[in-house]
Amino acid sequence: MTKPLNLISDEFTQNVHQHFAWMRENAPVYKGKLIFGKDVYLITRYNDVMDAFKDPRLVKNAGNATGKDGKRADAWMPRILHALQNNMLNTDDPDHRRLRNLVHKAFTPRMIQQLEPKIEQIAEELLNQVAGEMELVEQFALPLPVTVIAEMVGIPVEDRPKFLGWVNRILVSFSAFGMIRMIPAAISLMRYTRKLADKRRVDPRDDLLTSLVQAEDEGNSFSEDEVLAMVFLLITAGYETTVSLITNGTNALLQNPLQFERLKADHELLPTAIEELLRYDSPLVTTEMSYARETYTLHGVTIERGSTVLPAIGSANRDETVFDRPNDLDLTRQPNKHLAFGQGIHYCLGAPLARLEAKIAFRHLLERCPNMRLAIAPTDIRYRNIPVIHRINRLPVAW
Ligand code: HEM
Repeated sequence: MTKPLNLISDEFTQNVHQHFAWMRENAPVYKGKLIFGKDVYLITRYNDVMDAFKDPRLVKNAGNATGKDGKRADAWMPRILHALQNNMLNTDDPDHRRLRNLVHKAFTPRMIQQLEPKIEQIAEELLNQVAGEMELVEQFALPLPVTVIAEMVGIPVEDRPKFLGWVNRILVSFSAFGMIRMIPAAISLMRYTRKLADKRRVDPRDDLLTSLVQAEDEGNSFSEDEVLAMVFLLITAGYETTVSLITNGTNALLQNPLQFERLKADHELLPTAIEELLRYDSPLVTTEMSYARETYTLHGVTIERGSTVLPAIGSANRDETVFDRPNDLDLTRQPNKHLAFGQGIHYCLGAPLARLEAKIAFRHLLERCPNMRLAIAPTDIRYRNIPVIHRINRLPVAW
């Protein structure tokens, strides 16, 4: 292994599971590099990742680690992005709890269940537009969750292409050049969301944005930037992750024909199958950035106060000391204590929604395209080179 490994290099992204296996064995706390050569400590064993989720020495707001109030450690990010970063996933309690409480009602299993007919309809319509072949990401895996979350938040249909264009440009901006190109998109996104929030104040609708601006007007202590950051978080969290579950999951099924056959023969397996797909090729390889608020030592490695620490979910989920034959896809695996949705106070708010979307998506794919096969060579499958999220770029399939 070339060291130190750059975690947004092609070398790491395309071979992530091999690198993680090496790290679990030889360097359970691995000091790698992020954009602009920034150091990062990857934690790769299951038990250590689990501990990290609940470790009070690790915080999400870098200011709480460095003591420099309001200053984020990721100062390399353009200032414009800081407002968008002011979201619950990047904050610690009590701010985190205050922000999470604002939206948690919209994500209870009961509320999510009510979305089922809408998600069914979206899946149905998407598959009506294809025959015999499709590029799975563009034509199915991406539009499905994007439409669901845009509906929930309340982005008008006609504005969605440009809105998602901006989100996408921001998400793929993890290079020096990308950073520069991203700034106009970030400005447009913020301007647009502010305007839409103003509209919802005078013309309320039955959507999340309206409930956010109403909560703001009712004197709840949160700022306009926090509303903006919440919308951005919900869209990004509900976007790439679910796309990845459907895409990486379909690829895993197509590359494991015996398992695929089993699922086709018995759709009742879908709930355990989805948990296994979440474990096997986890949509988030690491959590979002965490920061050490004090210097400490783990497995002989000293992590200095203020350092960036990344618990590696994708590695924990393949840990051979916890999962029997972790590199095998077993759609009946039980128990399956994967960490794909995280743990602790930042446990994924959208987990019930993601599970429902995946169940509907895979059921429709099984029913409508039972003879699905890869339309490219497995060796041509490429994962996107961005941090945190692990998702196949394009997946042409045929049936
Ligand atoms: C397969 C799909 C998904 C996966 C694998 C996933 C995974 C995760 C993980 C691992 C975290 C914790 C990150 C950390 O600790 O740094 C998280 C947090 C979060 N997720 Fe998801 N997610 C998915 C879908 C969704 C959806 C559909 C939504 C909703 C729109 C959503 C909303 C959130 C939010 C708001 C948080 C932050 C919670 C907090 O800070 O308290 N996620 N997700």
